[in-house]
Amino acid sequence: MRPRGDFAERLKRIPPYPFSETDRARKAALAAGRDVIHLGIGDPDTPTPEYVREALKEAVEDPATHRYALDEGDPGFRRACARWFKKRFGVALDPEREVYPTIGSKEALAHLVLGLVDPGEKTLAPEPGYPVYRASTTLAGGEAVPLDLAPENGFLPDLSAVSDEDAAAARVLFLNYPNSPTGALASRGFYLEAVRFARRHELVIVGDAAYSEIVFEGRAPSILEVEGAGEVAVELHSLSKTFNMTGWRIGFAVGAAGLLAPLAKVKSNVDSGVFTAVQRAGAAALDGYGDFVPGLVELYRRRRDVFCAAMGAAGWEVAPPKSTFYVWMPTPKGLPGAEVARRALEEADVVLTPGGGFCRPGGPAERFVRAALTVEESRLAEAAKRLAKIRW
Ligand code: MLT
Repeated sequence: MRPRGDFAERLKRIPPYPFSETDRARKAALAAGRDVIHLGIGDPDTPTPEYVREALKEAVEDPATHRYALDEGDPGFRRACARWFKKRFGVALDPEREVYPTIGSKEALAHLVLGLVDPGEKTLAPEPGYPVYRASTTLAGGEAVPLDLAPENGFLPDLSAVSDEDAAAARVLFLNYPNSPTGALASRGFYLEAVRFARRHELVIVGDAAYSEIVFEGRAPSILEVEGAGEVAVELHSLSKTFNMTGWRIGFAVGAAGLLAPLAKVKSNVDSGVFTAVQRAGAAALDGYGDFVPGLVELYRRRRDVFCAAMGAAGWEVAPPKSTFYVWMPTPKGLPGAEVARRALEEADVVLTPGGGFCRPGGPAERFVRAALTVEESRLAEAAKRLAKIRW
């Protein structure tokens, strides 16, 4: 008999969630009375815009929002998503069949994988990459095959390097552009190549577009803009970063009805949808996009410039990201990222995320750290000043 405290095998195969770890370290330092600068998680520090908060207040007063939202959710939210998508990417979606509300993109991608991957099957997961790609694959009983994102390839995966064996066993190809943690962008040309690859190998592309609006150079296309993508790709969008709504838990998946069906089936069995009042506020957020998002992008651009200049002056090798609010930095002297992050907290009261959180054990990303630009400019400058004092 298995002891009660011996939990499921699948749980033993996933590491602790890296951003919960950095948060624990931060809280312990704060509890010890230290002046901590937290660059360890991409959680926007400025508030959700007032017009969105007002929309929530109004929606909450309507008792119709108090009941189960269930999986398909609020038709008004799905229509707002389709409207925004058409305006932003020029792609027309059927709000009834090709848009699906989610509890943020993290939940959606984990549940989608559960609906697509059987034990023994594989996924192709970029590294460095969001840890949920690997974890969700493991929870589904599958194996994540790392696709290394090299700087010399613009942090795009080299799909021609995937072995025939892996391609044949893989059910999912994860893509994430704008990319966390590297800040890289993908072009339509790359998406076309990925779509051809997915068609050849009968794969589903799960496009994580959580950072699609935080872009400093050019624009980030949707994979659904390219020919043939509709048959192979599901794209996950989130209101978290675009509208400072991480705590609200709202996003949406887009794609062909047939590809959204596994997500819908899993979700209808494990959750009961997004609070309808939050969906109404989400619709308001999307409709007010133009009044809010450009200002937010400028805020992050200024922070990026201040931080990268200060870190560069401190002797770190820093390439300003083209997108997202992350700075992905090789560690001084190639030290392990975990050691650098530990010393940054101990000696400078600065929380960084070690690169190991974004890759397999021993992956090249272990010699990087990530900084999130989610504190004020003055604090970013102060963080760089403190880090500059450490003798590595
Ligand atoms: C990040 O910091 O990369 C993520 O936004 C954190 C998360 O999704 O848990």
